Amino acid sequence: VAENGLSGWLRYAPLPDGQRQQYASSLPSHIVALNSTSTSPVYTAGQELQDGIQRILGRKLKISQEHSAWTSFNSSFVLVGTLSAYDKLGSQNLSTDLVPDGFWLNIKGGAVTIVGQNGRGALYGAFEYLSRIAQGNFADADIVSNPDAPIRWVNEWDNMDGTIERGYAGRSIFFANGSVATDLTRVSQYARLLASVRINGIVVNNVNANPRMLTNETIAGLKRIADSMRPYGVRVGISLNFASPGPDGLKETATFDPLDPTVIAWWEAKTNQIYQQIPDWAGYLVKANSEGQPGPLTYNRTLADGANLFARALRPHGGIIMFRAFVYNSNMNPAVWKDDRANAAYDFFKELDGEFLDNVIVQIKYGPIDFQVREPASPLFAHLPNTNAAIELQITQEYLGQQDHLVYTPPLWKTILDFDMRVGGKPSLVRDIVSGQRFNRTLGGYAGVVNVGTNPNWLGSHLAMSNLYAYGRLAWDPTGDVQSLLQDWIRLTFGSEPSVVKVITDISMASWPAYENYTGNLGIQTLTDILYTHFGPCPQCQENRWGQWTRADKSTIGMDRTVSNGTGNSGQYPPEVAAVFENLETTPDNLLLWFHHVNYTHRLHSGKTVIQHFYDAHYDGAAAAQTFVPAWQSLQGKVDGARFDDVLFKLRFQAGHALVWRDAVAGYYYNLSGIADEASRVGHH
Ligand code: GCU
Repeated sequence: VAENGLSGWLRYAPLPDGQRQQYASSLPSHIVALNSTSTSPVYTAGQELQDGIQRILGRKLKISQEHSAWTSFNSSFVLVGTLSAYDKLGSQNLSTDLVPDGFWLNIKGGAVTIVGQNGRGALYGAFEYLSRIAQGNFADADIVSNPDAPIRWVNEWDNMDGTIERGYAGRSIFFANGSVATDLTRVSQYARLLASVRINGIVVNNVNANPRMLTNETIAGLKRIADSMRPYGVRVGISLNFASPGPDGLKETATFDPLDPTVIAWWEAKTNQIYQQIPDWAGYLVKANSEGQPGPLTYNRTLADGANLFARALRPHGGIIMFRAFVYNSNMNPAVWKDDRANAAYDFFKELDGEFLDNVIVQIKYGPIDFQVREPASPLFAHLPNTNAAIELQITQEYLGQQDHLVYTPPLWKTILDFDMRVGGKPSLVRDIVSGQRFNRTLGGYAGVVNVGTNPNWLGSHLAMSNLYAYGRLAWDPTGDVQSLLQDWIRLTFGSEPSVVKVITDISMASWPAYENYTGNLGIQTLTDILYTHFGPCPQCQENRWGQWTRADKSTIGMDRTVSNGTGNSGQYPPEVAAVFENLETTPDNLLLWFHHVNYTHRLHSGKTVIQHFYDAHYDGAAAAQTFVPAWQSLQGKVDGARFDDVLFKLRFQAGHALVWRDAVAGYYYNLSGIADEASRVGHH
């Protein structure tokens, strides 16, 4: 069967007859979707159950929307509903502790009960059940599943003209020719994928936002987007241009000063207008005073003044403002030894802790710079005990090969989420900070930049979809094991044949280490072309106004971020962590050049010199990428032809490009340092 990837991991391929028949015949005749109306997630859950069961098991159950079909509690059904609807049945009171979006799933033979704290939770429970049977798991179960954090959003960097900033899978599914697209079929299909991994919100346009997102015409279009996503429980929001009302925007006010009464009134009216049309509107995302975007600093107002402007307008409606901490000076001078872009988020935000209203969430990129192949966790996570926080991750592989390279990123995310900041000398994992648990905040969570496009397989690469799948699952439960999430995804996407599961597991788990090896090592950053494409090697492109510096010269390399002699960045971490990073001896090898400026001949804990590590890592990483091709080829005939060929094409490209990376980076540092490779590979072609 030709498979273009449109259904992603919701493929629901039929199980082999021998496997499915017995279970299929144990199922009851009816699905009951309790008290559901056609736009509700519970209704969707009923449809999904019917469709999924039919595809996987080959049996079509009937759906009843009403519980009049419910004769006695002991009759068996596939039942899905909200907690309040379930309680009204009076049959059994659930004594479980469900929080919003959480669900209870009970499977006893063919009888299935799915109860969500709300409609969304009911839908998530239905998807969980389907995921189990799609993987051939018919075991009884009794599970309660609650989200770790309430904010589990995706961001899309789509422009109104239909292009996508840092998107690698075609044009926008949301916008075309300056307006919201007419055909939103792909938008509701996307909402379905998102809901199945428990994503509950989406911001649909570029953080570098167009003021025209707020015209009456666009708002009418946004209403259509929200209508398309509502049945899946995905709430919609937009990125705002801070100057929207003013002279450089829609020209409806004379200024965009956040404390000016006409500006305040404008945002309030605009927000009311949106809620009038879209009552479950999620809120706004704002990139202010960053990379040329307007913001409150123009008027000598604080970033908190800026965020609170929107917070006040949204508050009466229950809306949320995600305010980005990605604020830095993008006109820096690499000649200044103590300047450091990595210091910016802390410098701008630390002193504002406690000044943000309760419906503001500060959205912080995982590392202090910008989605690099290796970064320490942003120190800002440790300094906002009185502010809601979210972590921003990238599913789109901006610096990680742009979906032309296989890079399974969850292991990278895990290094950040599991990092212990030791705030106040106490355990302070980043994941417990963003969930709100560490500082007792009620709001917080996850924002993932996805940038899907019109390509039928969404991200431009079949294998890249594991990143989106695992992103949703980790936002729900960041303690999840990244390899078993990957394997759920493989079975759902490609089937359960053991060699298929093994090969895709092996190459995916090897992919981030390989990519790090053949790009930037030891915390030097990705070493890609940061001026234009962010694709391909360019170790010589780093020392410029953008502040992603390596400080490489003939004999030394690395950013000195120590307090004693450098930019002071290590001192932004709480004392126990700061002490580790300040000291050359205790800094882990993989962050050595992030924090220290050393000779190429400096010896790592591994015993190798820095330069020899560069050479070896580049050869190892590129060699690993060569192995992905034959590994995949061994699956010929076990994966449908279309996807087999697509993936093979990508892996072959990666294998070749890894050699380009290897030779460019190893050769560059060889030419710069003049130090020979002990294995006589570099410079001897
Ligand atoms: C990166 C990216 C930009 C993006 C920016 C942001 O710098 O290259 O395209 O606008 O991050 O996250 O705001």
